Amino acid sequence: MATLLLKARLALELPPINAALNRAAQDLPEAVRPVAQHIFDAGGKRLRPLLTVLTARLCGYDNEDIYDLAVTLEMLHAATLLHDDVLDNAATRRGQPAAHTLFDVTPTILAGDALLSHANSMVADYGDPRLCRCFSEATSRTATGEILEIAAQRRVDTSAEQYEEIVRGKTAWLIRAACQMGALRAGAPDALVEAAAAYGENVGMAFQMVDDALDFAPESETGKPTGGDVREGKLTPPLRMYRESLSENERAAFDGAFAAGLMTAADAEAIAGRIRAAGYDVSTRRQAEQFLDRAREALLCLPDRPERALMLQMADYVRDRKK
Ligand code: IPE
Ligand code: IPE
Ligand code: MG
Ligand code: MG
Repeated sequence: MATLLLKARLALELPPINAALNRAAQDLPEAVRPVAQHIFDAGGKRLRPLLTVLTARLCGYDNEDIYDLAVTLEMLHAATLLHDDVLDNAATRRGQPAAHTLFDVTPTILAGDALLSHANSMVADYGDPRLCRCFSEATSRTATGEILEIAAQRRVDTSAEQYEEIVRGKTAWLIRAACQMGALRAGAPDALVEAAAAYGENVGMAFQMVDDALDFAPESETGKPTGGDVREGKLTPPLRMYRESLSENERAAFDGAFAAGLMTAADAEAIAGRIRAAGYDVSTRRQAEQFLDRAREALLCLPDRPERALMLQMADYVRDRKK
């Protein structure tokens, strides 16, 4: 109910976003086009390009060329998903087989690189170095977050602070850039660009925390493997709460299997069931609220246009989303 207007706006924005994405896919080298088309056609929420469009409109920009800029963020996102599913050994994505299971690992990685470099050149076409800088910083922050995550993999001593640093890099920075680039393209003054960036970064932090809660939901709902984070040794907030709830003996057994990478899909399913029963997924959503409050606060510095109400609804959507 609370996100009705946002959904109506998404329905209006999706056709031009998808059209721009298909145009971009046609310009990719022929060898990598099928991989890109596979991930684009599988769907996805198109959250990042939507945010670029909303932020630009909020800052008073009415040119239609915003859609080509917006999809560069979706292309970067798709590239990170192609690479991420290789890193995470994930078999499914967006309810479809993950690209690397269909096209093999090397072509999938190279397709991600091609997507990224084409997106870079599309950004450069706008002739604004600030956009290029923002886009390349998002790329490098995302990669750094993924690298930090790999370093923390299978470690039960990963701290809450380390988790936050990983999330800020691997997920929040790209969502930050989506908002910042919309405001930059609109020619907004520095203070508004900064507010848009802060909104995006905090929405991004909450978005990943909710993703970590959803990791324990059934695959039929999310289109991604249940308990993937258990198998891949990621001590996310719900899993940390679960581990802390165990008796000493149980915890020693958990730590041994987690650290050795011995968690099976059946273990992951069983743990997911216990996490849902104990409500650790719900508690994680509640923890994400602190970031959403900061995002809402940042919005108050932005103009009072209809998009501002939609971006407020976006915060509720991120907290409550089911996929
Ligand atoms: C998945 O992002 C990767 C994360 C940062 C958690 P989304 O949940 O936005 O994925 P799609 O684009 O809707 O498939
Ligand atoms: C999300 O990481 C960030 C990136 C894809 C770079 P996850 O590994 O948590 O995302 P999902 O759950 O596979 O979508
Ligand atoms: Mg990952
Ligand atoms: Mg993953």
